Amino acid sequence: MAIIIDGKVLAKKIRENLKVECEQLKEQGLHPKLAVIMVGNNSASKVYVRNKSKACDEIGIEYEEYLLEENITQQELNSLIEKLNQIKEVNGILLQSPIPEHLDINQAFKTISYQKDVDGFTPSSVGKLTIGEDTFISCTPYGVMKMFEEYNIDLTGKDVVIIGRSNIVGKPLAQCCLSKNATVTICHSKTKNLKEHTKRADILIVAMGKPKFVTKDMVKEGAVVIDVGTNQTEEGKLVGDVDFENVEKIASYITPVPGGVGPMTIAMLMNNVIKATKEQNNENTTF
Ligand code: GUN
Repeated sequence: MAIIIDGKVLAKKIRENLKVECEQLKEQGLHPKLAVIMVGNNSASKVYVRNKSKACDEIGIEYEEYLLEENITQQELNSLIEKLNQIKEVNGILLQSPIPEHLDINQAFKTISYQKDVDGFTPSSVGKLTIGEDTFISCTPYGVMKMFEEYNIDLTGKDVVIIGRSNIVGKPLAQCCLSKNATVTICHSKTKNLKEHTKRADILIVAMGKPKFVTKDMVKEGAVVIDVGTNQTEEGKLVGDVDFENVEKIASYITPVPGGVGPMTIAMLMNNVIKATKEQNNENTTF
């Protein structure tokens, strides 16, 4: 039976440390603040945003929410971002995705000041990650890397197979694993013979959004399995992209859903807000 990688416990530990750091910043007169923008009425986004707000409260980070109408124009959205870029008291800006289809999310991300890009989605952050410079790392990949660190899972020379090529998870995660000397394969919806890839993975990371898609026969005995999926069943239950009950029997380590990667994503966002506050107030920053 696999060792369960407990994201809930690890995230709690990270949040407790951040709370102490936040208090120290406040003693220096710095009050970390996150601004979250949400466009329209996506119900999943509402849950994510609520959880982010709760985490801010718990740590002592100030939180401000901007709820924009579904029919807002690109220019109105970009103007709000530009306004927030200028406000010194706002340390981090997060545009919750998805946004309505008539808007170009990349254009909006590009408008976010690099110094406030706590999601790590701007071209500057992505580019810096790629060339191995210190930057904001997007929160889910960062959370997964923290899990490897905590459980002493060494990536050197390992075959890492990632299913999913999104800008938010798959691509940045591939960069992170590469920087830890793994051999990385990214699979996606057009990949041929998916099972051939997954079967040889020492570390299999699944971020595809298909409930229980990865079954036991697709996994190598002793593999580390990281499930980034969050799917809601008809009964309202949260399940991952991995058939946990069966894969758990052959994996060496596995993350559950819920209680795995999800809580880590939010903890790393909080980490990035604290980092942003420090960097913006550090005269010697190279950041
Ligand atoms: N939508 C789903 N995950 C994320 C995330 O990590 N950040 C943002 N901004 N939107 C998301």
